[in-house]
Amino acid sequence: MDPSRYTSDPLEVKRPIPETAESGAVIVGPIAVEAERARLTHGAAASARHHLNAAGSALPTATTLRAVTEHLELEAEIGGYEAGASARDRLEAVYTAAGELIGAPAADIALVESATVGWRRAVDAMRLGPGDRVVACRTTYVSSALQLLELERTGVTVDVVADDSDGQLDLAALEAALSEPAALLTGTHVPTSSGRVEPAAAVGALANTAGVPYLLDATQSVGQLPTDVGEIGCDALVTTGRKFLRAPRGTGILYVSDELLDRLRPTCPDVRGALWSGEHDFELADSARRFETWEAAHALRLGLGVALTEARETGVEAIAEHVSRLSALLRARLVEEVAGVRIADPPGSASGIVTFVIEGEEPQRTQERLAQGGCDTVVVPASHGLWEMAPRGLAGIVRASFHVYNGEDDIDAVIAALRA
Ligand SMILES: Cc1ncc(COP(=O)(O)O)c(C=O)c1O
Repeated sequence: MDPSRYTSDPLEVKRPIPETAESGAVIVGPIAVEAERARLTHGAAASARHHLNAAGSALPTATTLRAVTEHLELEAEIGGYEAGASARDRLEAVYTAAGELIGAPAADIALVESATVGWRRAVDAMRLGPGDRVVACRTTYVSSALQLLELERTGVTVDVVADDSDGQLDLAALEAALSEPAALLTGTHVPTSSGRVEPAAAVGALANTAGVPYLLDATQSVGQLPTDVGEIGCDALVTTGRKFLRAPRGTGILYVSDELLDRLRPTCPDVRGALWSGEHDFELADSARRFETWEAAHALRLGLGVALTEARETGVEAIAEHVSRLSALLRARLVEEVAGVRIADPPGSASGIVTFVIEGEEPQRTQERLAQGGCDTVVVPASHGLWEMAPRGLAGIVRASFHVYNGEDDIDAVIAALRA
C-alpha cells in the first residue's frame, strides 16, 4: 500500500466518501476503501502492509483509538474512579450500542473481556452436571470445545453433530440430535477455520421447537454479517471486540435473553452484579450485569462503544457485501493464478474469510511467503477447530480475512507474493 494515499490527519475524514473512478480510488460496492483507509491511525498508514487478518484482530479507526487513549490520560490526570464517573453516560451507552447492533435490549448485555470469558460465564452459570447432555456443532471453537470436554469429565454428555458431505451443518442430523433431551445447544455462526456461515436462524428454529437453550458463538460474525438475536432465535450469544467489530483487544460481549437469565446463576457473583443484602443473603442483578465483575477496563469499553457506533454507521450490510465480494474474488484469483492452490472453504462460503492450502507446501511456509510480500495472514492449525478440520483431513490452513479498509490492491499483493 502506498502511505501517501492517507491524509495527514485521519480524523479529518469522518465518514466514507464515495469517490469517482477517475480519482483512482478503490471502490467496492457502497464502501469507499480510500476513505476507510484514511480513518485508520497514522501507525497503520506508516506500516504500509496489507492487513488481511480482521478475523484475528482488525485495525481500529483512529477515533476508536483516541477514545481509549483519552480516557487513560484522564485516569492518570484525575484518578480512575473520577474518570469513570465523568464517563458514566458514555459507558452506559456502550450497552445500548451493543444491544442495537444485535437486536437486544441493553439490559440483556454484559460486557466481558473476550468471547471465551462470556461463553465460560454463561455455560458455568447453567450448572451442568452428571446426566446433562450438550449438543455441539462441529465448528465449535477450541476454547469452547475444551470447556465442554472438561464438563464431559464430570459426567456431562457432549454430542457433536455431523456435517454433511459438503462440509455444512447437517440440519437433519441436528434435528435428530435435538429429539433427545438436551440442556444446551452450542453453535458457531462463522468458524475460525473457514469462510462458511452456519444457518443460524434455521438452527435457532430447531432449538426453539425442541425447547433447548441455544448459545451462539458469533465471534467471527458480529461486525461483518447482520446478526440479530431475535431473527436467529438464540437464547445467548457471545462475541469479541477485536475482530470484525474493530474494537480494542480485551473486550467482548455476552447477550443473555430475559427467559434464560432467570435460570442462570453465575458461579462467582461479584459486587457489580449482586447486592450483599444480609448475613447469609445476596440478590443477583435483574440483568445480564450479573455476569460482570466490578473492575473493568473503562478505556477499552469506551473504545468498544465507538467501534460499535461506527459499525452501525457504516452499515453491517454494506460491510458484509464488501468483505464477501473481496473473499469471492480472492478465491477465484487464487485458483486461476496460483499453481497448486486448494480452497479450504466449503462451497457457498459467504463471509469475509478465505482459507486455503498450497499442495506440497506447509501452511506456515505459505504464510511466511505472504508476509515477505507484505501480506499479513495467519495459519489456523487443526487444534483450533478439531471437530471441523480433522474430518476434512486438514492439519492447518492459511486464513486471509477482509474488512472495509481492504481493496482489490490487497488481493493483487497476495497473488504477487504467492507467485514470486
Ligand atoms: C469462532 C471463534 N469463537 C471464539 C473465539 C474466541 O474469542 P476470544 O479470543 O475473544 O475469546 C474465536 C477466536 O478466534 C473464534 O474464532
